[in-house]
Amino acid sequence: MTCNCGSDCACRANEAREIVVKIGREGEYAIPLLQEIQRRHSYLPKELVEAVAAEADIPVSALYGVATFYSQFRFKPQGKHLIRVCRGTACHVAGSDIISALIAQELGIEEGGTTPDMLFSFEKVACLGCCALAPVVMIGEKIYAKLTSSKIKAVIKDYKNGKA
Ligand code: FES
Repeated sequence: MTCNCGSDCACRANEAREIVVKIGREGEYAIPLLQEIQRRHSYLPKELVEAVAAEADIPVSALYGVATFYSQFRFKPQGKHLIRVCRGTACHVAGSDIISALIAQELGIEEGGTTPDMLFSFEKVACLGCCALAPVVMIGEKIYAKLTSSKIKAVIKDYKNGKA
């Protein structure tokens, strides 16, 4: 069961128990526990992190210590479509800054932001591993390669119109 009520309720405790039973309760499971929370909610809801810490018998400070150390973890809800712009060297040389600026302009948000309608989140990431296709953007699990200004505008338009 995935709880979205946002309050300190029984379903939160039940979900925490479910996660701990599935993943493990020792400190060495801190990262997989956090990954499971984020997989379910797209970010780390405070109440659920605390409930998982209590259930797993891991100090909540230790769990937050791990969560803040790794950039993969988010503390705010994410939009439906996560746009990741590669800022690696090859993409940078191929104009990723221009692509980033266009995305920010098209969505009206800065890097790290989420649109008010929760449709898009936008972030810059390290090399996505397909440098020969630079500049590269990943939206959800899909890669968009050799982007130009007009291509990225068209891609965003498709997502806005529900065509992608
Ligand atoms: S530098 Fe962008 S994919 Fe490697």
